[in-house]
Amino acid sequence: MSENSAPTPPKKVHVKTWGCQMNVYDSERMTGLLKPLGYAPTEIAEEADLVILNTCHIREKAAEKLYSELGRLKKHGRNADAKIAVAGCVAQAEGAEIRARAPQVDLVFGPQSYHRLPEMIARAAREKGEVLETEFEAEEKFDALGQSREAEGYTAFVTVQEGCDKFCTFCVVPYTRGAEISRSTDDITAEVRSLAAQGVREVTLLGQNVNAWHGAAPAGSGADDWGLGQLCRHIARIDGIERIRFTTSHPRDMDDELIAAFGEEEKLMPYLHLPVQSGSDRILKAMNRGHTAEDYLRQIDAVRAARPDIAISGDMIVGFPGEDDKAFEETMALVREVNYASCFSFKYSRRPGTPGATMPKQIAEEIKSARLLELQALLEDQKQAFNAGLVGKTLPVLFEKKGRSPGQLSGRSPYLQGVFAEGPESLIGQIVPVLITGTHPNSLSGILQKEAA
Ligand code: 5AD
Ligand code: SF4
Repeated sequence: MSENSAPTPPKKVHVKTWGCQMNVYDSERMTGLLKPLGYAPTEIAEEADLVILNTCHIREKAAEKLYSELGRLKKHGRNADAKIAVAGCVAQAEGAEIRARAPQVDLVFGPQSYHRLPEMIARAAREKGEVLETEFEAEEKFDALGQSREAEGYTAFVTVQEGCDKFCTFCVVPYTRGAEISRSTDDITAEVRSLAAQGVREVTLLGQNVNAWHGAAPAGSGADDWGLGQLCRHIARIDGIERIRFTTSHPRDMDDELIAAFGEEEKLMPYLHLPVQSGSDRILKAMNRGHTAEDYLRQIDAVRAARPDIAISGDMIVGFPGEDDKAFEETMALVREVNYASCFSFKYSRRPGTPGATMPKQIAEEIKSARLLELQALLEDQKQAFNAGLVGKTLPVLFEKKGRSPGQLSGRSPYLQGVFAEGPESLIGQIVPVLITGTHPNSLSGILQKEAA
């Protein structure tokens, strides 16, 4: 990892296996899955940071053997902070009883859940306030999308939420960034007020799962807990703030209040980045997304009912393990139905330590590349059509800086496109009506309708 912490000694995992050859194989698999989280195998239970008891139900008195081993571990002194996990068929069959009889056990999981072991270990570590040393690659282009930035002139990014508890099976963020946490309403309000006082007109609220944000409502407001919709409405009342955006959202956290805010709060810009990743329910399940393609489409319908002109943006992954032609076709069909204004798309890349990396049916590079090309051609057509649909319309543009050629200004439309127009520098920092006259690969051009006062 790129963090500049001193290297910590590797953690150790001890796996005790009962039963058949299958169980021996499973134990090896678990050891392998834990390697990227910094766990090296050890034969000595007493020196382990994690003890996994891999049980077998076929053998007689399996449960008794388990409890006697748990008792032995307790008596013979183990690493004080060691975690104890019970895996295998006894865990599957008697999970609740094990938890009741042996409270020292941290994790209980059956053979169907081994692929989720890194996730479970990361969660258990977090609950104890530990930091995991992982071997994930330092280069994280995906993370960069969620980085907080300093105020730049008239627009600013404000981090309101960090971390992720979703554990999509392709993604390292839950391991590297930790659990979902929300910044307090008061802190956010204070920062936005100070930015507004410095001349900022537009704020973008940032978070890996920004719409999971929740916080206490300010005293006297009559509400207990706020979601992102209320936060946007609240920020809209801060003097000087004219535009609000937020990114990145998750379909599981879209609530009615946030959707309603798009229709009711004029300062909330008509742009929503709502990644879906795939159009196939089978792949969405393997990705552990927690929603179907239909759930997503209904959300898009609801958002469009609230704000018909909204620009929808998203993220797509092609070539996730197990993605066959039919699943890819379902992604293309979903994209056709949504009709994106813009959308990021990626070839699936195996991230060590994530469950996806060890899934069977990895997709060949050539197939991933061909699918990405096909998807991107469709997305590019949709983007150009969205842009072309704005020609002849007058849009409010927030001018942020000088353009590339002399006398030109550069700004943004409500839909987040770059807009160029000729105009005096005095308009920088102002929101001005611009008649859109042309589209370019990555921007629009137009003519000022009137000079702002
Ligand atoms: N492979 C491909 N794309 C990925 N993303 C995250 N992890 C991976 C991966 N392993 C993409 C997702 C996410 C965006 C920020 O990066 O689409 O929404
Ligand atoms: Fe969290 Fe999934 Fe987004 Fe990764 S892709 S940050 S796991 S919601």
